[in-house]
Amino acid sequence: MGEVDQAFIQEPEHRPKLSIIEPEGIPLIDLSPLSCPDSISDPKAIEVLVREIGNACKNWGFFQVINHGVPQEKREKVETAARKFFAQPLEEKRKIRRDEIRVVGYFDTEHTKNVRDWKEVFDFLVEEPTLVPSSTEPDDKGETQWFNQWPENPPELREVLEEYSQEVEKLSLKLMGLIALSLGLPEDRFKGYFKDQTSFIRLNHYPPCPSPQLALGVGPHKDAGALTVLAQDEVGGLEVKRKTDGEWIRVRPTPNAYIINVGDILQVWSNDKYESAEHRVMVNSEKERFSVPFLLFPAHYTEVKPLEELTNKQNPAKYRPYSWGKFMTLRKLSNFKKLKAENIQI
Ligand code: SIN
Ligand code: FE2
Repeated sequence: MGEVDQAFIQEPEHRPKLSIIEPEGIPLIDLSPLSCPDSISDPKAIEVLVREIGNACKNWGFFQVINHGVPQEKREKVETAARKFFAQPLEEKRKIRRDEIRVVGYFDTEHTKNVRDWKEVFDFLVEEPTLVPSSTEPDDKGETQWFNQWPENPPELREVLEEYSQEVEKLSLKLMGLIALSLGLPEDRFKGYFKDQTSFIRLNHYPPCPSPQLALGVGPHKDAGALTVLAQDEVGGLEVKRKTDGEWIRVRPTPNAYIINVGDILQVWSNDKYESAEHRVMVNSEKERFSVPFLLFPAHYTEVKPLEELTNKQNPAKYRPYSWGKFMTLRKLSNFKKLKAENIQI
């Protein structure tokens, strides 16, 4: 006990229980109808799939997919390169450190709700934006820089990540199409929002932790974007808060599957028909863990609000519109300001 720094210690009500609940688990959905030519002549298979996805979004906000079309070998290359990157000395990794100006890069002092997460991360933007509206310029210190920082080592990291990102992006857009259909909307209803996307991919590394009963890899949170497409390794640790009773349910690692979760933007677009689910990551004292989320985010200039087709007099909009670009910039800045105010070394 007490071998970790105070900054990592969760409030008692957030400390993980050592017993793990793994009942039937979150839904596992087979996407093969999407790639099977027969399904074009058999719209029933797609209909069934759309219904399954709609139910999973509504009841859980989380599901896993198999037969998703992302080549396994591209994912494995990312996992190998990620291991090599994190195995380097801290000074090396900190050369591409994220700060209040540069929004992406390496970071080892992430906090969720003011408690430090037991992890280190590397982020990169899937598409470096050419258009950042002036309303998102942060403060008097200078402009936020929306461009990627690549490490010298391993040299292949950039290429394998760029190749991989195209594949997961395709998967995420297919899923948004199925989600649109499940809401009674045209399949391409969401497509336009992602033309100048601000999506990014994160490499997460959770080292073994001497006090897994006190700290968390990531504290309880919801994802702010539209959808998350996550690859987790075989170690496990991700938990989802079940909507029906608030229990934390472990998401069992399934080889080569992706974990999909509804983010806050989809919650707003659907006017609460689909809600983003709270989740967290447990760490353990023996094994390190790696995960790779793809966070599907819309363009900076997107005004996020409930879709008109899904609201009416009986079901009025539950959210006021907000600017996605402004939200992202303010959130990044306030995180850094909080850390500085609390004198946390960043
Ligand atoms: C996260 O939700 O931030 C990370 C999920 C994971 O590592 O499994
Ligand atoms: Fe998350």
